[in-house]
Amino acid sequence: MSAATQRHVPVMLPEMLGALAPHDGGVYLDATFGGGGYAEAILAAASCTVWAIDRDPDAIARGASLAARFRGRLHLVEGRFGEMLGLLQAAGVQHLDGVVLDLGVSSFQLDQPERGFSFRADGPLDMRMGQRGTTAADLVNTLPERALADLLFVFGEERASRRIARAVVAARAQAPIATTARLAEIIRGVLPPDRSGIDPATRSFQALRIKVNDELDEIEHALSAAAQLLAPGGRLVVVAFHSLEDRIVKRFMVDAAGRAPSPSRHDPRSILSRSRPGFRLLTPRAIRPGAAETHANPRARSARLRALERLPSESPAS
Ligand SMILES: C[S@@+](CC[C@H](N)C(=O)[O-])C[C@H]1O[C@@H](n2cnc3c(N)ncnc32)[C@H](O)[C@@H]1O
Repeated sequence: MSAATQRHVPVMLPEMLGALAPHDGGVYLDATFGGGGYAEAILAAASCTVWAIDRDPDAIARGASLAARFRGRLHLVEGRFGEMLGLLQAAGVQHLDGVVLDLGVSSFQLDQPERGFSFRADGPLDMRMGQRGTTAADLVNTLPERALADLLFVFGEERASRRIARAVVAARAQAPIATTARLAEIIRGVLPPDRSGIDPATRSFQALRIKVNDELDEIEHALSAAAQLLAPGGRLVVVAFHSLEDRIVKRFMVDAAGRAPSPSRHDPRSILSRSRPGFRLLTPRAIRPGAAETHANPRARSARLRALERLPSESPAS
């Protein structure tokens, strides 16, 4: 697909808007601007201001026309959402009425073979959302076998991690692994396709993508920062696409709402206890997309939306 014909269909858009409940005069952060679908919907729903972050310079460049359409109401910032506190402070923003995070990669990234995210189309083994730093090829060609196996197991929940790592190390001794197609072929040589219809390379590609982009630490930092930035009544809405992401989001929100003790070393209460904010869980269970959406957009199938509200300061924490 050419870049000109590509688009990203926003996932769970009505559910996101319902949970965020944007209001006139509000200031919101779309921390994963992507194709701008969420930002545009928020701007159309209320006479509000949206700050939008994306680490991918292509996403920021593509957003220029939307920023022009909503002149003075949409502000684009290139950077990592894990650093949202600093990015917003530099822009003079202290408090937000809502934050949305729509995790993972956009269709623009996935569908452009040259970005190296896809095992369906051949391209350089890259996977860097921010287009700088270590690539997936650097990892598969340099990590010791044991470290590679651990990475595939921890970030991909890949049970065949040891066998795949062994095959990768044997293959790279012949020639460096430079393309997505070659890596996928090596993995399929270890794990033939089964009846699930899920490509055997899926979990390994997920693992490499998470590592290349430091995705789980980014999420931990973003959740803590968002909790600090939310004004009383402000809402945090997160859409996650796999269990590793969703587990972090769920634990954070449950802890912030005071529902359970946290075993996490990133225990949000260490931040929350400083200012004693109270939070209310708006989604006791994750919201899933409806059948019509998953039928129309297969990317939505694994989506789970969770939301949290900062209580008005005079209210006791629930
Ligand atoms: C699923 S897309 C968002 C799509 C968007 N909601 C829309 O409607 O078009 C995720 C976007 O988040 C960006 N992203 C992922 N991790 C990020 C991070 N740590 N910091 C900043 N942007 C990030 C990606 O580059 C990608 O463009």
